[in-house]
Amino acid sequence: MYRIIDGKAVSRQVKEQVRLETEELKKKGITPGLAVIIVGEDPASQVYVRNKEKACEEVGFYSEKFALPENTTQQELNNLVKELNGRKEINGILCQLPLPSHLDDKEVINLINPIKDVDAFHPVNVGAIMIGDYNFLPCTPAGVMELIHSTGVDVTGKKAVVMGRSNIVGKPMAMLLLHENATVEIVHSKTKDLASVTREADILVAAIGKAKFVTADMVKDGAVVIDVGMDRDENGKLCGDVDFEGVKDKCSYITPVPGGVGPMTISMLMKNTLTAAEIQNGIK
Ligand code: GUN
Repeated sequence: MYRIIDGKAVSRQVKEQVRLETEELKKKGITPGLAVIIVGEDPASQVYVRNKEKACEEVGFYSEKFALPENTTQQELNNLVKELNGRKEINGILCQLPLPSHLDDKEVINLINPIKDVDAFHPVNVGAIMIGDYNFLPCTPAGVMELIHSTGVDVTGKKAVVMGRSNIVGKPMAMLLLHENATVEIVHSKTKDLASVTREADILVAAIGKAKFVTADMVKDGAVVIDVGMDRDENGKLCGDVDFEGVKDKCSYITPVPGGVGPMTISMLMKNTLTAAEIQNGIK
């Protein structure tokens, strides 16, 4: 008998906690502020950015959106980041990725003051995570950990397999599972006999961006399966990296798409922005 992990419900709880803490901060005259930069017209990015603004409103943050045209130059984008680094009421800076191909995301990330880097993409923050001494965790992997915690399953000693090795999800995800004493393996497109590895996973996190790639024969009985995918199936319908219908009966817990990891990412961004505001005001 599988149970569905309700990402919307866990996300609501995290946001409510952030809202309450924000209320307290406001009594001290501090309002957390988030700047979101988006370049170009990518429709998926537009939706994400709108949801981030909405979440800011829900928890009581100040937010500013910078929608820049597709033909923005690297210099213009860099200058905006530098300006935001210097603005006191902006505690967090997020540049929505992917950027149009003529722009270098590494250059932008490197320019964000690490203490305002609420994505935790800056090399200083990535390094801090590696040694387990960090201010911010990257939003999606941190959200996945919250979902795993919500099941009550103890990660210690479990075999965790992360599918995908991106800087945004796969690599930090493996590190967070390791911090909680899982035995972690990362598999990717060049892994030989991938299914033989995933079949051993007590906790399986799929972050490869391939619709319904994970099938029942790749999953261990009783596994906790977390689906980070945001893909489209053959009919253009939103789905995950996991073939939910085929896999669910083998799982102890499984996340749906939509309504699983997606809502968590934004809640963790709110949490990071709150932390950033606290640190910048000498409270943390
Ligand atoms: N694009 C997809 N996911 C993310 C994210 O977590 N942060 C940013 N900045 N861009 C993204």
